[in-house]
Amino acid sequence: MEVHIENNALGEQEMPVIAEKCGKKYFLETYGCQMNFSDSEIVTSILDEKGFSSTSLEAEADIILMNTCAIRENAEQRVRQRLTEFRELKRQNPSLIVGVMGCMAERLKEKLMEEEDLVDIVVGPDAYRNIPKLIEEVEGGQKAINVLLSREETYADINPVRLGGNGVTAFISIARGCDNMCSFCVVPFTRGRERSRDVETIVKEARLLFEKGYREVTLLGQNVDSYLWYGGGLKKDIDKATEEQKKGAVTFAGLLEQVASIDPLLRVRFSTSNPQDMTDEVLHVMARHENICRCIHLPMQSGSSRVLKVMNRGYDREKYIERINAIRTILPGCTITADIIAGFCSETEEDHQETLSMIDFVRYDLAYSFKYSERPGTTAARKYKDDVPEETKGRRLQEIIDLLRKMCYESNVKDIGKTFRVLTEGISKRSAEEIYGRNSQNKVVVFPKKDLKPGEYVNVKVSKCTSGTLIGEIIEN
Ligand code: 5AD
Ligand code: SF4
Repeated sequence: MEVHIENNALGEQEMPVIAEKCGKKYFLETYGCQMNFSDSEIVTSILDEKGFSSTSLEAEADIILMNTCAIRENAEQRVRQRLTEFRELKRQNPSLIVGVMGCMAERLKEKLMEEEDLVDIVVGPDAYRNIPKLIEEVEGGQKAINVLLSREETYADINPVRLGGNGVTAFISIARGCDNMCSFCVVPFTRGRERSRDVETIVKEARLLFEKGYREVTLLGQNVDSYLWYGGGLKKDIDKATEEQKKGAVTFAGLLEQVASIDPLLRVRFSTSNPQDMTDEVLHVMARHENICRCIHLPMQSGSSRVLKVMNRGYDREKYIERINAIRTILPGCTITADIIAGFCSETEEDHQETLSMIDFVRYDLAYSFKYSERPGTTAARKYKDDVPEETKGRRLQEIIDLLRKMCYESNVKDIGKTFRVLTEGISKRSAEEIYGRNSQNKVVVFPKKDLKPGEYVNVKVSKCTSGTLIGEIIEN
């Protein structure tokens, strides 16, 4: 099993290691965000339950599944390249089944089978329970597709098979879909309407992980701040809920409080926040619970109010600054990270300068930046011209990256001399004598291993840094 993570809002992942079992073998490769990674854990659970076993060797697989991303064109290109590599395997073994799941499957639907003739299965993000059935259909000699989007599916009852491998950190999906309709974004089309998962199943999953020795959970949703559990259904249908359901409704602040209260030794992270929806209440819950990590991913996208309006982001520059100030006031020492798009439709040099000045104002600890990539079917593709020349996009992106690199380094330099509580995660790739973990602010800290194992808390004093890592010594145990 391999994981290829898009360098995006939802962060990077380690490569999981999978034990082999008996039965028909599947090879599952994941591209995209943490949500896709989390979905692959659900699919693994569904397939294992049906007696399939996973393999890390594509050559010995009976079924190859690719969990794909559609957020930018290059994410799809990478999948297509990979499909051409599977062509040779299929030539050697004509009964090999190739399935494409995830956002690219949902976006292209049957067109994907027409364009890539080796694809036997196309399955969208809300139809994963159907995969064993789809495999059966292909074995019966047909191609199989299920791209139905659901108003209810949250896979709430499925216990994901953890593929992360470190036994310390895990993802928990709390909501699916997105109702925001940012004009550049394909996600509302590929992941459907926003629905929240039953709060009880989330808390139960987190508690179970803690009991198994996990020490950190990341609550995942396209827009965590708009989480709302009132007994089922789409968020927009809350008006149809009974009075009793409305009274018992749980917001994201409420959910965070419940998960954080499981145990002070269980760290809680979440992604992604949205500037127009992030409430002070959430920040106050964080302030009350030390185990809710001091790191907020707050996508900025653009520093220009005019561009934000064209993006249909639901906030302007002033509102974004106001939210940053609220974080700084309520949660001093909290790191702030972001996503930024360079060269969106109609972006002028002045707009770009406003993005740079926003980076300068916030002094991000980390941010992911991307060249705008037009996605078919989105409002931007239908209504606006992709009019910033490729060369200008590239130059603007480079200016953003250069400034961010400087900010990240400065942010790390400021940590020299400070002591952080670090949760250990694994042995450093560079040296077996070193262990790494992360502090509450989500910065990677490397230090001498001594007798430590992954999953322990230690205090580390930072003595030096690079732009991506803090380096230090344990000061007490
Ligand atoms: N082009 C470039 N970047 C995009 N993102 C989303 N859609 C696009 C697009 N069409 C970026 C946004 C988002 C992150 C996950 O990916 O910054 O927050
Ligand atoms: Fe994740 Fe969005 Fe890519 Fe889908 S399109 S995999 S939701 S980043």
